[in-house]
Amino acid sequence: MDSQQKTNPVIINHPLIEREVTILRNKYTQHEQFRSAVKRIATLLAAEIMKYAEYNKINVETPLETTSGVDLRSQVILAPVLRAGLGMVSGFLALIPEAKVSHIGIQRNEETLEPVVYYAKAPQVVSDSMIILLDPMLATGGSSDAAITFLKKKGSKNIVFACLVASPEGVALIQEKHPDVKIFAAAYDRCLNERGYILPGLGDAGDRMFGTL
Ligand code: PRP
Ligand code: URA
Repeated sequence: MDSQQKTNPVIINHPLIEREVTILRNKYTQHEQFRSAVKRIATLLAAEIMKYAEYNKINVETPLETTSGVDLRSQVILAPVLRAGLGMVSGFLALIPEAKVSHIGIQRNEETLEPVVYYAKAPQVVSDSMIILLDPMLATGGSSDAAITFLKKKGSKNIVFACLVASPEGVALIQEKHPDVKIFAAAYDRCLNERGYILPGLGDAGDRMFGTL
């Protein structure tokens, strides 16, 4: 294991990701540009996260001879948290088209900030499935804690969490409750405000993505 693999969270450092996060942070960015930036960042995150997947060496026949190659060893299940996690799915599917998708509907009660699970539908998990939880925002961590707990109840053992913006408070909660879950983020922000929003953040990801402001 190299030093990067020991780090948790992994903040993915890439100027293209930084450029897309800047687009998301900008309050003048409209929902269609917001959605396409989320998709591009998701693809960049997918490329990084899939370095941690397991691969089999295989043989492949070119038109000229047999040579060696690789293929994914285990099934990948994407687990977007509704709504905003949905925006990350197509970016991941661009690189892992065979992935299955597990939907988890969780909404924060804006008074108590407590997560409420209102919908869940998951494919069969096999022992070595790699589950990638998708949610753009890791704020208090309540929603992702609820989602990870749900996925573990369904038999998931290998879960990683891909988010766009993480807060120190959310990272601390997930590390405490789920030390086995590696967190990948495009940005690691300063703190939460009194309403549980990430600062500087990007506002309400679901509202900005779907134009429900
Ligand atoms: C947002 C976001 C996360 C959650 C993060 O969803 O997409 O799921 O808040 O906050 P937390 O870490 O404090 O739980 P929201 O509840 O606003 O629902 P939405 O996606 O339907 O807008
Ligand atoms: N959910 C969001 O969409 N944004 C935040 O800043 C916090 C929670």
